[in-house]
Amino acid sequence: MTEFSNLLDGNKVIPVVAVDDVDTACHLSEALLAGGVSVIEITLRTAAGLDAIRAVRDRFPAMLVGCGTIRQVDEVAMALDAGSQFLVSPGGPTALAKQLAAAPVPALPGAATVTEMMTLFDLGFATQKFFPAGASGGPAMLKGVHPILPEISFCPTGGVSADTLNDYLACPNVICVGGSWLAPNDLINARDWASITKRAEDARAL
Ligand code: 3PG
Repeated sequence: MTEFSNLLDGNKVIPVVAVDDVDTACHLSEALLAGGVSVIEITLRTAAGLDAIRAVRDRFPAMLVGCGTIRQVDEVAMALDAGSQFLVSPGGPTALAKQLAAAPVPALPGAATVTEMMTLFDLGFATQKFFPAGASGGPAMLKGVHPILPEISFCPTGGVSADTLNDYLACPNVICVGGSWLAPNDLINARDWASITKRAEDARAL
């Protein structure tokens, strides 16, 4: 299976979004691509999530589309059926983690403690989501676990911002970061696509 880091194509930042409709997802994708960000994680926090993934896959072939906030085992098949190219979960309960491990695309279950990280590694996950990153110790936690778990890489999300981004990316075990600050709800609701493009440009310039 393709390594997640190889799919990223230079992207260091993954916008995590919750959209209320397909149209919004398409505008967002256009704005992000215009700013050079060619990856998006569309979460299942809204009912429109799966349709949005399908539409963005269909209309924006340059975009790498992931499905986020997967919490149920049966959502893995739904995410794949919608065309998701990577799968993300905030946690890694065993049944869900096993289903994610069996998926034909990269998956990042979430861990916040050393035991969770080790458990997921044993299930085959050398790349994991570190969530909620800010509340779980931030860059200091990642630097702290690196010497004992050097074979695990992380995508921290949850409380990451433009201000803390560089501290995370400076960790030796961080391959990318994710978060909603790049395309936050206030800009989405205001349909301020130009500001989202600007944030994407700033992220891409890292
Ligand atoms: C996620 O699902 O990855 C996070 O909830 C994003 O967290 P943020 O909104 O704090 O960036």
